[in-house]
Amino acid sequence: SKTTVGILGAGPAGLLLARLLYVAGIDCVVIEAKDRAYVEQRQRAGILEQGTVDALRECGAGARLDKEGLTHHGIEFLFDKERHPIGFPELTGGRTVMIYAQTEVCKDLIELQVSAASSGAPPLLFETSAIAVDGANSQTPSIRYKTKDGAEHTLQCEYVVGCDGFWGVARAAIPEELSKSYERTYPFSWLGILADVAPSNEDLIYARHPRGFTLLSMRSPTVSRNYIQVPNDTDANDWADEEIWDEIERRTETKNGWKVQRGPITQKSVTPMRSYVHEPMSYGRLFLAGDAAHIVPPTGAKGLNLAVGDVITFANAIKHKVATGSDAKLQAYSDNCLRRVWQAERFSYDMTNMLHTDPNESDFVDKLQIARLTRIVTNKAAATDTALAYTGFPLD
Ligand code: DHB
Repeated sequence: SKTTVGILGAGPAGLLLARLLYVAGIDCVVIEAKDRAYVEQRQRAGILEQGTVDALRECGAGARLDKEGLTHHGIEFLFDKERHPIGFPELTGGRTVMIYAQTEVCKDLIELQVSAASSGAPPLLFETSAIAVDGANSQTPSIRYKTKDGAEHTLQCEYVVGCDGFWGVARAAIPEELSKSYERTYPFSWLGILADVAPSNEDLIYARHPRGFTLLSMRSPTVSRNYIQVPNDTDANDWADEEIWDEIERRTETKNGWKVQRGPITQKSVTPMRSYVHEPMSYGRLFLAGDAAHIVPPTGAKGLNLAVGDVITFANAIKHKVATGSDAKLQAYSDNCLRRVWQAERFSYDMTNMLHTDPNESDFVDKLQIARLTRIVTNKAAATDTALAYTGFPLD
């Protein structure tokens, strides 16, 4: 079979790209190894930048988000037992972020495409494993894949976009001698929980504590999403529910007696942390987007938003090609994405290092962390820089 754009992966990046291309009248096929239920249930990101929200609205995926998404006007930093709000709109010329889970973004985009299938919306092939991208540097790239029954097929494409995550096959199609990757691992992970209890605070709380970082987030007015820093290789099942709440309570203690609200934990899992960038992000007619090209540690919630920025950049580049015949924007794709990617890498790294306790570091570093946080909450220029980064870096 044959299509204009072959897309590997039906996460938020692949699904949004398919929608953007469909709206632009460019045909594509999406190949996803997992089944639809998996893509719709897997707990991941929860914060959408303004630009991500705008993109979803513009392509017709904004209806439920506008009803159920929670607009957030700031965050709080908690350290030395005191809470410090950082307001976004007043520091950024009106920007906000929205709480709306990745699972819901995926459900909305899948539903849109499935319901438009009879009017030519692209097929979403679930339970279909990509094996390799062939001929990336030729005029006729293709995707070799396997269906559930084990049969091998080839999809002929004009362009291939790898939205298939860090473990996907797309990146391997870029020759090693042209590739360079940059990487950092961290000596800690996050234990994340979903709990059936109203969030304890209207805004997210990023808490630094000598026992480790804690984040109080949410998924809805009745569901809390919280994370605590734990050692690498922690097994989530080694933590009893009450132990998790005890630890969250200890790390978020304040001088005025405010306390986190407890409730039944419905899900818990451990997320390792990594920084990673692969350069370049394209090779011939293959383009990488999202985690296939770069990973950020979760602190600051940049991962999904970066992936969205990549696919918008690709969609604009191919629309430009179709409209004018010029490859210029496709050729600039990697450089244009990487400028924004590295800013997000820097922000995520700084947020991570400012808020986590590293068992291998000295008390000198503890003091620097407090000094960095104090600077942000007492200096308007520092707060503005944080607010601008958190609410999102503009596309080129
Ligand atoms: C969430 C995750 C983050 O990494 C973050 O910085 C904020 C919120 C979340 O999952 O809710």
